[in-house]
Amino acid sequence: MRTLRKTLHIKTYGCQMNVYDSARMAELLAPVGYELAPSAEQADLVILNTCHIREKAAEKVYSELGRLRRAKEAAAADGRRMMIAVAGCVAQAEGAEIQNRAPVVDIVVGPQAYHRLPELIARAARAEGRQLDTAFPAESKFDLLPQQRQNEGPAAFLTVQEGCDKFCTFCVVPYTRGAEASRPAADILAEAERLIAAGAVEITLLGQNVNAYRGRAPVAAPDAGSWGLGRLLRALAELPGLERLRYTTSHPRDVDDELIEAHRDLAPLMPFLHLPVQSGSDVVLEAMNRRHSADDYRRTVDRLRGVRPDLALSSDFIVGFPGERDEDFARTLALVSEVGYAQAYSFKYSARPGTPAAALPRQVPEPVKAERLAVLQQLLDAQQLAFNRQNLGRRLAVLFERQGRLPGQLVGRSPWMQAVHARLPQESLGRIVEVAIVGAGPNSLQGEAEAAGARAVA
Ligand code: 5AD
Ligand code: SF4
Repeated sequence: MRTLRKTLHIKTYGCQMNVYDSARMAELLAPVGYELAPSAEQADLVILNTCHIREKAAEKVYSELGRLRRAKEAAAADGRRMMIAVAGCVAQAEGAEIQNRAPVVDIVVGPQAYHRLPELIARAARAEGRQLDTAFPAESKFDLLPQQRQNEGPAAFLTVQEGCDKFCTFCVVPYTRGAEASRPAADILAEAERLIAAGAVEITLLGQNVNAYRGRAPVAAPDAGSWGLGRLLRALAELPGLERLRYTTSHPRDVDDELIEAHRDLAPLMPFLHLPVQSGSDVVLEAMNRRHSADDYRRTVDRLRGVRPDLALSSDFIVGFPGERDEDFARTLALVSEVGYAQAYSFKYSARPGTPAAALPRQVPEPVKAERLAVLQQLLDAQQLAFNRQNLGRRLAVLFERQGRLPGQLVGRSPWMQAVHARLPQESLGRIVEVAIVGAGPNSLQGEAEAAGARAVA
């Protein structure tokens, strides 16, 4: 194939699934001549990989498109054509509307159709006009994407499941990402082996509803049929060279016995779990269609901690869901106090067009949402700081992933996802090293190599 050298810039918004998809798009476009450019201004092709989860996230895309319009005009004045593509969930949700609102956009491509990007680019370049592909095709994009994973560093992502059938009443994901679909276990194991060969020490399995994973078992497996997430983790934990396993994002309803046993038995499975609860009020949980009560969630947490006492939790919370009263919000605070979180994300409810909750009566006024968010975040921040401070004086195994801002400094993650900064020799990059924790702030820990030199544990 004749290739022309061109440059590509991808800007990623939203969740880790988008980070994964952006890396796949870059790999897909490399063989047709696209090299990554550090800035949009220099690039021949700019892809915005977008997020639609809250209004603010979606609006960011339009302001970026305004900026890109000027960059595209400047490129044209230089005799250079810049092509602009919008990918991801805004593309899926808004489709042709994007091109109406921002005529600067050449290509709109949904999350299930991006394996067709080379064709869409070629068609747009042949001046066949603007291209739109937001289909949910019958073929899986995973079978059509390049198999070779580029070196993404020691901590890699691997998508095992996509889509969501839960239909929480506030959420756009079931519409933008489609129905739940799981990749066959054999494909996942093969991709994990390629990642390990390329230097990955840690793999995070991704899925919008990752613990609803139910994929075809490998043919050779004695328990053929389908595998759940617990079984998949068990197989991955046996891969030589893989030291750490994580998965995100889980739904409390789908934490089954097999998954709890995986936390009990698998040493590489890290003791940190993002398990969103959204609210501590049963009335609100019901209106959200979460299909679990606050006590169901407490029981699940107790069972997990029963088998893995050092398990730390993270969650997502929404305040100001339509109809949320002061007493409902008080129940959220009570749940947070009881469970104790190492980290959490909290949001004001944002009405998303087309979702059932957007049409509910008793929308909560903005100042009430803002007040509740501030109170919740104060509690969560205090818990996070307390969690970090517990580690003072301890030794933690840290996977050092990248350079820090200071000379000689590396940054990595503890088993509980805390960022740890330490001055260490360059060889520690990409390795798990035990360091003494000498400082703890709200967002990171300070580590020190021990006097006898840092001990590499992997
Ligand atoms: N408004 C506010 N937060 C939302 N989330 C999803 N949809 C909305 C919405 N409409 C939050 C949930 C979810 C996280 C990814 O984003 O807490 O778990
Ligand atoms: Fe959205 Fe609920 Fe599905 Fe999570 S479980 S992606 S919040 S619909």
